[in-house]
Amino acid sequence: MTDLTTNYLGLRLRSPLVASAGPVTGNPALWQRLEAAGASAIVLPSLFEEQIENEAWAMSFASDLGADQFGEALSYLPAFNQPDVGPARHLALVEQARELLEIPVIASLNGTTPGGWVRYAKHLAEAGAHAIELNLYDIVTDPQVTAADIEHRYVELVEEVKAEISVPLAVKVGPWFTAFGNLAHRFEEAGADGLVLFNRLYQPDIDLDTLDVVPRLSLSTSAEIRLSLHWMANLFGTVKCSLAASSGVHDGADALKLLLAGADVVMTTSALLQHGPEHLEVMERFMRQWMTERDYDSVDELRGSVSRGNVPDPQVYERANYYKVIHSWAPGGHR
Ligand SMILES: Cc1cc2nc3c(=O)[nH]c(=O)nc-3n(C[C@H](O)[C@H](O)[C@H](O)COP(=O)(O)O)c2cc1C
Repeated sequence: MTDLTTNYLGLRLRSPLVASAGPVTGNPALWQRLEAAGASAIVLPSLFEEQIENEAWAMSFASDLGADQFGEALSYLPAFNQPDVGPARHLALVEQARELLEIPVIASLNGTTPGGWVRYAKHLAEAGAHAIELNLYDIVTDPQVTAADIEHRYVELVEEVKAEISVPLAVKVGPWFTAFGNLAHRFEEAGADGLVLFNRLYQPDIDLDTLDVVPRLSLSTSAEIRLSLHWMANLFGTVKCSLAASSGVHDGADALKLLLAGADVVMTTSALLQHGPEHLEVMERFMRQWMTERDYDSVDELRGSVSRGNVPDPQVYERANYYKVIHSWAPGGHR
């Protein structure tokens, strides 16, 4: 029997197929289906800096008013007063997931600026999370802020969150960095036990009828694994921390390519939204069959075997690939 077990953040997982943060992992009614279909861990949706800061603001506002007016004060407060959002519900979700699931539960925290919200990493761990994923999603538009400022702030945040917790820490980022190899090493030095590569940018659109700027959520396609694949292959063997691939993982073939490039686990959200939790079974079946046909006994055996350090011509993962690829175009498709 092919051994699919893998190590991620120091956790031994039954396979590399992890359900990443999104509506499916945020729905307790689907958790056991995910587990039964073969998810080896789940990442819960992020608790956002704004949710925590809003609650902190509400509490200080209420204490200024006096406890007797607190209930009344809450009714004036905006969106965060809804019962289904906020840190308390989130902590309860982590506890519930721990009760219902055998597989590891990873809690996610999203934020970009230093602040008291960072302490919630500790609360999420105390609620039972096996690990914390710090989701550093940001859109920097201030022309006074430099790339170095942002990287410095992110590295500090990783240090701050790490100092709060005794469980492992993964750091999830987007791909928009000039020298990502350098940043990856700095994250590791700051205490990251794993890197999740990459988050997707959700760009808004313009409605030509109303001229409104509208959010547009489009799910990924398999073509998007290439960015993660590229960085898995370049980082494998150069960092000690775990590597998780995210974005574009839709089938067993995507998963295998990322493992060959160097991923310890692959994460999927869009495919689960499109096909439901049972899609994980289809992915696992494909992986097992492919590995059996090629005499791979384990994931450990194939991981990283097509990484930059393990291919005859490492330049395929460097600039040379750019030159080759643009000269490979021929009418009717690639040569
Ligand atoms: C509707 C939706 C909600 C998401 N919510 C979160 C979230 O709360 N935290 C997070 O880190 N990523 C979140 N993501 C991003 C996914 O975890 C994942 O990184 C991204 O969708 C790329 O993976 P995919 O190609 O498998 O979809 C969300 C994605 C979608 C589509």
